[in-house]
Amino acid sequence: MDLSKTIIEPHGGELIQRELDDVREKYLQKIDKLPEILISTWSISDLELISNGGFSPLTGFMDKRNYERVLKDMHLANGLPWTIPITLSVTKEIAKRLRVGDEVLLKGEDGIYYGVIQLQEIYEYDKKKEAQLVYQTTDPHHPGVKKLFEQGDVYLAGPIYLLNRPKHGDFEKYYMDPRQTREMFTNLGWKTIVGFQTRNPVHRAHEYLQKVALESVDGLLLNPLVGETKKDDIPADVRMKSYEVLLNNYYPLDRVRLVIYPAAMRYAGPREAVFHAIVRKNFGCTHFIVGRDHAGVGNYYGTYDAQKIFSSFDLDAIGIKLIFFEHSFFCKRCNNMASLKTCPHSEDERVIFSGTKVREMLRDGIQLPPEFTRPEVAEVLLKGKTIS
Ligand code: ADX
Repeated sequence: MDLSKTIIEPHGGELIQRELDDVREKYLQKIDKLPEILISTWSISDLELISNGGFSPLTGFMDKRNYERVLKDMHLANGLPWTIPITLSVTKEIAKRLRVGDEVLLKGEDGIYYGVIQLQEIYEYDKKKEAQLVYQTTDPHHPGVKKLFEQGDVYLAGPIYLLNRPKHGDFEKYYMDPRQTREMFTNLGWKTIVGFQTRNPVHRAHEYLQKVALESVDGLLLNPLVGETKKDDIPADVRMKSYEVLLNNYYPLDRVRLVIYPAAMRYAGPREAVFHAIVRKNFGCTHFIVGRDHAGVGNYYGTYDAQKIFSSFDLDAIGIKLIFFEHSFFCKRCNNMASLKTCPHSEDERVIFSGTKVREMLRDGIQLPPEFTRPEVAEVLLKGKTIS
């Protein structure tokens, strides 16, 4: 059975695999003869997700034609929906040492050769234009824009191979590539799977969304992003502990699986919501949750922009089914979780905390209330804050 195609077709029809033993051997034998460049942890995570098929149909870092098309009309050159540029930046000085046709080793700061790129194109790009189109702002305070402005001025493009898979420390047991998640879903007998992206601990509102979705699908893939996030987000190790206690205490364990999503967070709001959905399709999910201000930060995006954006796409080409949710919260009058769609009471009755407020409370040693987050999760977060 071809597990790469069970349940739902990957984006573009084929699950890409660029982590091949024979290719690895070939490159490792000539490691001394190849040029090399240092790449960031962000690029390492992109490399990993291209190579394991998470970013299918990409087989490498984008050339100018695909990059321009993604920026301008959110599709790849072959016409498939794709909203986020996946690029490899270097400084002009480094680019000068490289030639099209080179095979360039991609080395991490830790000295590990993570991959190799077969250089097909070297091109300059306009950072302000990319910022405006992808993030809808050129404000350097936006974490995605800040990253973009700090990176090198030149992009290297071409197919890649993974030489060494990045390690995920304590989370290794929660790592699965898209082939493995697809196989797992098949073995579990799940035909409909909802994917949930988060860069936060799972609070009551998240839990509500997931459980409402679970009422109509076979299983939940809780798929927290554990790659690079902005400094004031709650660190992944603390979050992973919070997911464990939450699942163990409040979820039907036969209907949920926790698997890490090792990508970097872009904070690109609507565009990143489409990207997140497509990637989860590659991992075998048939449904994807998009709630309030998905992948947003500050006030750069409208509350429901990340849902509205899908109306500009052919949904058959997106493939995965979207489940949209209104802003959800605990209502004291309802004495229940509810949303703007279901709760008739006033705002004063609703328990809603911003990310900033949560951080403040944790910093001041205040335990988050049970209406906002489960006590077991609150405890893990408070402990995490005192330790870090
Ligand atoms: S992020 O990855 O989208 O930045 P976050 O943890 O904030 O992570 O949200 C995860 C998902 O839950 C997103 O789809 C988001 O829209 C949704 N979400 C978060 N909080 C709420 C809420 N109170 N009401 C409705 N949807 C929410």
